[in-house]
Amino acid sequence: MDMIDKFMHAVLSITFFVFFLHYRLFTSLVATARSLFKENVSGKVVLITGASSGIGEHVAYEYARRGACLAVVARREHRLRQVAAVCEIIGSPEAVYIVGDVAKMEDCQQFVEATVSYFGHCKQPIRRLDFGGFNFLLVFDVVVTVDHLVTNAGVTPVCMFKDYDDITKASPAMEINFWGSVYSTYYAYGHLKKSKGKIIVIASSTGWLFAPRLSFYSASKAAVISFYETLRYEFGGDIGITIVTPGLIKTEMTDGKFLSKEARLQLDPEMRDG
Ligand SMILES: NC(=O)c1ccc[n+]([C@@H]2O[C@H](COP(=O)([O-])OP(=O)(O)OC[C@H]3O[C@@H](n4cnc5c(N)ncnc54)[C@H](OP(=O)(O)O)[C@@H]3O)[C@@H](O)[C@H]2O)c1
Repeated sequence: MDMIDKFMHAVLSITFFVFFLHYRLFTSLVATARSLFKENVSGKVVLITGASSGIGEHVAYEYARRGACLAVVARREHRLRQVAAVCEIIGSPEAVYIVGDVAKMEDCQQFVEATVSYFGHCKQPIRRLDFGGFNFLLVFDVVVTVDHLVTNAGVTPVCMFKDYDDITKASPAMEINFWGSVYSTYYAYGHLKKSKGKIIVIASSTGWLFAPRLSFYSASKAAVISFYETLRYEFGGDIGITIVTPGLIKTEMTDGKFLSKEARLQLDPEMRDG
């Protein structure tokens, strides 16, 4: 009996080891292939929500360096104006800013439509060619869509469940983090389908790693992850979906910007470590 146990143990260990080696080989091949065939985003139209600071702002700069046309959305106009200006300086052919609140459905519709009409206007369908004094007018059939949507706008309510006096004050977590992503996706869907585009979803590791005082934040990010994992099946190959689940990244959020139990955005560096 002992011999059989030892034999089975050895067989299982070897099988696991061989499987693990193949699995590691496969994942490193996939990673290498991905880095070799990086998408060229030059000239593509990219819409980013929550781009007035932090992750959204820096994602905008990355796209700009690679030559993408950008529409940056958030509520703070002065910050957006600066972000759009920097994007053009570092390589974006066109960067436009649109003030909007992702928790409002009508704002989401408006910023998606404004993006499409702005870049439609920029890409003039008519070109004049001059051949030795002869003028030709070329008319192109320009289809302007949204190629990438980055749903990034988010807030962090930080409060113990028992300390809420009015529990409805926690609702911005779902309204902004979850519904804000859903509304933006809903209005961009037709355009993304046309372009065979991508949605990049900035979720969070708190969607599956839990900590006190972050119950509503974690719940909103878990909802985001489940929602887009489901859409991945529904969309099939039509629209690519990338779900990003970062850990801690130093931004205004980790510097202590949080949504208080009265639903007010506050800055309190002490809150980080409390
Ligand atoms: N930093 C981290 O450690 C970390 C980790 C995991 C995930 N994340 C996620 O990353 C995303 C960006 O966060 P961050 O760290 O870069 O923080 P941040 O600097 O505070 O950025 C949040 C962005 O969301 C925008 N925003 C908030 N409410 C909005 C609304 N109702 N409508 C439109 N825009 C709104 C803010 O702009 P306005 O205030 O100007 O509207 C800002 O541009 C969030 O979804 C966050 O949950 C962050």
